[in-house]
Amino acid sequence: MERRSDWYSHPKYYEAIFGTDTRKEMDFLLEVNRHHGTGGSLLLEPACGAGRLVAEAARRGLDIVGYDISEPMLAHARRRLSPARRRHVHLFQSRMESFSAPEWEGRVDLAFNLVSTFRYLDSETAAREHLKSTRRLLKPEGIYALGFHLTDYARTTLERERWVGRVGRDTVICNTREGLPDRRLRRSAMRNRLRITGPGRDMLIETNWFFRTYDLDEARRLFRSAGLRILAMYDFDYRLESPLGRGSNRLDRVFILQPLPTPAGRKPRSAGRASRTESK
Ligand SMILES: C[S@@+](CC[C@H](N)C(=O)[O-])C[C@H]1O[C@@H](n2cnc3c(N)ncnc32)[C@H](O)[C@@H]1O
Repeated sequence: MERRSDWYSHPKYYEAIFGTDTRKEMDFLLEVNRHHGTGGSLLLEPACGAGRLVAEAARRGLDIVGYDISEPMLAHARRRLSPARRRHVHLFQSRMESFSAPEWEGRVDLAFNLVSTFRYLDSETAAREHLKSTRRLLKPEGIYALGFHLTDYARTTLERERWVGRVGRDTVICNTREGLPDRRLRRSAMRNRLRITGPGRDMLIETNWFFRTYDLDEARRLFRSAGLRILAMYDFDYRLESPLGRGSNRLDRVFILQPLPTPAGRKPRSAGRASRTESK
């Protein structure tokens, strides 16, 4: 068996698992945009990865800005866009902690970041900087749909998930494990195993990392400190007609965030110099 250690260097196998809900996710995001936001057509995806949602937005004629830390993921994102669709898309290599784009400040209708990617930000400062920089890009009535799994600090067992996907004649089995949360360090150990088998292929890609942990109160405090308020919350089933109530104990959450109004006459501070590379 061949062994590898970074699933983001193998976007097609990553997407065999996470790409199956792309249309449903975009339908939901656009419904949320119409219902809670401006309904406008400039989108932003921080940490856009291999661009499955970027391509889906472009396919629907929307304009979208995407950025990611990983060049292999961005290369995949560029390859999947036809020249006609590329006109709708701006891709950058950048980090969530420091992305800045003065030309889009105050112009974005809908930003989104699903599948717990936000939890890669490994400190309160990094998370707050990301939220503040995203807020600066939003229109005053724009929204940020931020989806991640909350932490139950009382849990005493590992959390496991398993999915099966296909790439051509290969089968991809994905097993993800989240370790017990460390409340003091605010993190839990993650392990993902992708096992790919097919004619002439037997490969294991094992990726290990830490995710930052949030319970609902920690998330709420962070959003407020970054100048964002929660308009609504949804489950990962992406059903606009079933928002989560305040007392819900669901851990899977899509938070719909909107900039808190700034005091009259005071402009939000700009991030200054752009920190990114446009990726063609
Ligand atoms: C789970 S994937 C999600 C990709 C895409 N948003 C999607 O829904 O398919 C997480 C992505 O986050 C990127 N990433 C991780 N840490 C990052 C950071 N600090 N800044 C920017 N991108 C980051 C990874 O390179 C990867 O492409």
